[in-house]
Amino acid sequence: MESKIKDLNEKLALAYLGGGQARIEKQHQKKKLTARERVLYLLDEGSFEEIGALVIHRTKEFGMEKEVFYGDGVVTGYGTINGRLTYVFAQDFTVFGGSLSETHAEKICKVMDLALKVGAPIIGLNDSGGARIQEGVRSLGGYADIFYKNVQSSGVIPQLSAIMGPCAGGAVYSPAMTDFTIMVENTSYMFVTGPNVVKTVTNEEVTSEELGGASTHATKSGVAHKTSANDIECLEDVKKLLSYLPQNNTETSALLPFKLEAEIRESLSTIIPDNANKPYDMHAVISGIIDEDSFYEIHKDYAENIIVGFARLGGRSIGIVANQPLFLAGVLDVNSSKKAARFVRFCDAFNIPLLVLEDVPGFLPGTDQEWNGIIVNGAKLLYAFSEATVPRVTVITRKAYGGAYDVMNSKHIGADMNFAWPSAEIAVMGAKGAAEIIFKREIKSAENPEEKWREKEAEYAALFANPYSAAQRGFIDEVILPKDTRRKLIKAFAMLENKEVVRPKRKHGNIPL
Ligand code: COA
Repeated sequence: MESKIKDLNEKLALAYLGGGQARIEKQHQKKKLTARERVLYLLDEGSFEEIGALVIHRTKEFGMEKEVFYGDGVVTGYGTINGRLTYVFAQDFTVFGGSLSETHAEKICKVMDLALKVGAPIIGLNDSGGARIQEGVRSLGGYADIFYKNVQSSGVIPQLSAIMGPCAGGAVYSPAMTDFTIMVENTSYMFVTGPNVVKTVTNEEVTSEELGGASTHATKSGVAHKTSANDIECLEDVKKLLSYLPQNNTETSALLPFKLEAEIRESLSTIIPDNANKPYDMHAVISGIIDEDSFYEIHKDYAENIIVGFARLGGRSIGIVANQPLFLAGVLDVNSSKKAARFVRFCDAFNIPLLVLEDVPGFLPGTDQEWNGIIVNGAKLLYAFSEATVPRVTVITRKAYGGAYDVMNSKHIGADMNFAWPSAEIAVMGAKGAAEIIFKREIKSAENPEEKWREKEAEYAALFANPYSAAQRGFIDEVILPKDTRRKLIKAFAMLENKEVVRPKRKHGNIPL
């Protein structure tokens, strides 16, 4: 028995070394942790249980029978994060560049299957040179198996991806189908085709970093929901994000104990400028409402005219969607609509109540927007709110104009509680533009057209640039003082806790894509 135990220990020791000490050092020189180091950092101390440490590939071609590494380039298993069961796979760049073989894919699929059966989150730490070139189509089949499982798990268990090295070719589509993608700055990149192919096909000269680095995907494409300065920060970000989410779609996020803070927040009374055309930072409103330091922003540097993210309100996990008057006056455009729609659908799938903070002057006009499909993209957000059955509360802080008023979680599309501050202006459009259209003739024929215009603008503003016309009709449930907002929202979400909505039976809706 002793020799058998020795034999097993030797095999495991080899597995723990991945591609060997020299390659581990190379990984460290690139300021990257190894797959195993990442897993051990991510999970609670002593909680990791590995599955498949002794798996090897089955390839005989190209001398591969002599190149065998236990684990075959991916560390898989389960453990806990802050006491919660979580499944994990981490690609090991020290073994064939973390490339995906048939067996490597089978290992990933095994933990994905377990996660789905048990109903617990799965986290993928990606660091891979793509398909195992020596395996050809067997490797492509492995990718497709993973993609298929990603889709079966979507909306059932949270799926999080961290990109901690290369992720190219078909490999990008698994993270793309998970719920959130976090990229490490300077050491990770994602693209469908790399700089060499780009040069051949389009004659563009571009570096990997420019084409698909973390900052590119966090600002230009929106593929990355967040970036982190290094591996450790990235793993901390994953843990923090997970803390807002439930284990699966039949559960709700844990109610965290929260410090009893002042329920009246005076700071909220002075945020809105007297001049309705002056911008202000909606982040100040968010932090004025939520539990201290609890905001976790998603897509912070992408489509900044809308803010989305998770927060805690009275210990409860909520999703926030808020127009940002600091950027493009907070208009809805193609990218902000897509960004918010995806976030709303995630929250709805995982029973996370939604809070909408609204200050929106309308949709962004222009050929660029129309030709890029603002109609169909704006409809995504409208659709996402309309189908959401989680508790939904809106606070209109200032502008709620035109079709955007309808879209931003209005009462009419199923919001449960709609509040407005006294500074709210709920109207078809701004008073100036409205006066110009409906009093066109009067203004034109007046002795002093400018003066007439101002007079008519004031007349329109007095009638509609306020929350009262909407409140009289019940479109707004209550006009509230800004300082009371936190208290009102804590009570509203508690009141809505057992909300249930029955929808007609259907296979699935047909969201405009
Ligand atoms: N299949 C098999 N082995 C691969 C691989 C792949 N797709 N990608 C990398 N490797 C191996 C390399 O042969 C090398 O092996 P070694 O340690 O025995 O020398 C090791 O992984 C590290 O690769 P290396 O090229 O030295 O690392 P790098 O950091 O300089 O470059 C990449 C990383 C990903 C840019 C580069 O390896 C690459 O271009 N790989 C191929 C990408 C690709 O075309 N994939 C297939 C299509 S999806």
